[in-house]
Amino acid sequence: MTFAGEVAVEPIGVLFVCLGNICRSPMAEGLMLDRIRSLGVGEGFRVESAGTAAYHTGELADRRTREVLEARGIHLTSRSRQIRTEDFEVFDWILAMDHANVRDLRERCPPAHLHKVRLALEPTTGRAVVDPYYGGADGFSVNEAELDAALDGWLERWLDP
Ligand code: 4NP
Repeated sequence: MTFAGEVAVEPIGVLFVCLGNICRSPMAEGLMLDRIRSLGVGEGFRVESAGTAAYHTGELADRRTREVLEARGIHLTSRSRQIRTEDFEVFDWILAMDHANVRDLRERCPPAHLHKVRLALEPTTGRAVVDPYYGGADGFSVNEAELDAALDGWLERWLDP
């Protein structure tokens, strides 16, 4: 975010990561994009999501994630992609949904960037956002509530350090 007369400041890069990048991490991406736009700080951030696996590369988010977002007026068009080595350089925060994601990310992360890999729910419960893929819509609602609270926590840290 820059203002007239100020030195250009790099946006804060936030990458949400889950396994398939169709359920949890795109939900987090959509919820975060909506928040920063509502707060008028959208230009201060670069927000994306990725998967540790490539099973769903190129696909839109799962219908159940899109329904959760659409119910809040959030239209997410991002498509699944796998994490890339350069992501660890480009993004400042790499927020994983569960412990398996953290483990997989840490295995690929250059040592200098390991501090960026964190659990997405760190500011609240510090627990995992449980994989909802094989369950019903309930799992997605639980994910939504947990991410909602944690994203507020991250924004408090980033906007009001
Ligand atoms: P996500 O959920 O990691 O939250 O996107 C999953 C999506 C797909 C699969 C597993 C989890 N899958 O096995 O295809």
